[in-house]
Amino acid sequence: MDQKLANVAIGVDIGGSGIKGSVVKLETGELIGDEFRIPTPENAAPEVIADIVRQVVEHFDTSVDTPVGVTFPAPVINGVCPMIANLNQDFVGMNVSDLMTTHVGRPVVVLNDADAAGLAEAEFGAAHSQDGTTIVLTLGTGIGSALVRDGVLVPNTEMGHLLLPNGLEAEKWAASSIRTKENLSLEQWATRLQDVLNMVEMLFSPDTLILGGGISTRFAEFSGFLSTRADLEPARLFNTAGIAGAALVASQEAQD
Ligand code: BGC
Repeated sequence: MDQKLANVAIGVDIGGSGIKGSVVKLETGELIGDEFRIPTPENAAPEVIADIVRQVVEHFDTSVDTPVGVTFPAPVINGVCPMIANLNQDFVGMNVSDLMTTHVGRPVVVLNDADAAGLAEAEFGAAHSQDGTTIVLTLGTGIGSALVRDGVLVPNTEMGHLLLPNGLEAEKWAASSIRTKENLSLEQWATRLQDVLNMVEMLFSPDTLILGGGISTRFAEFSGFLSTRADLEPARLFNTAGIAGAALVASQEAQD
């Protein structure tokens, strides 16, 4: 395996529990070799997170010209994070792209984690060649969303913060982390997820709904408890979609 090939990029996914990366084959979105993961320290300062990203990038023996894309668990508007739910509040107002670029020592493209997953699913996965409105929901520490219309992403939708009829934010009610924390059975958790899907369907009328995040590997076990008007599918790339999407966007920006 020669990771110095031009048709690869590095994708790094900053999550609430781990920061993981891989070299990605751009033609297919497949990861080349193993992921490298470092646990996310609790409430770590932005510089600490950025330094872990550097370590993950440096783990891979790629050329310095290999594009680097990083997913971030918050909206990213022209590089800046306007609000964040599940990492240190010091990120608010910060230009995260500049921070990562400085620490990693080469240009880094940063985008929202669910948007990265949505782009990867649109390019390589379950949303490939889907016309109409596709929504990807990532179920992890929080709930992320990507809205893709005829293959084009509308960035920074934040459906995990929708208020449900019970007065709670969607991600506080039905994120995968809540299932673990409250020790819910898959059926109990899926019943909660149904409340989120009802709200999303009412507001956006998607044609296709794709569920991602680590729990999507168990889609067959819980999808029977869910009912939607839209076609409901598991993410084809499961929880590697963020890494693949980040790599894809980084390579596209490097070519511009
Ligand atoms: C953030 C989103 C993110 C999601 C999943 C939410 O709390 O606001 O931007 O996509 O978590 O990490």
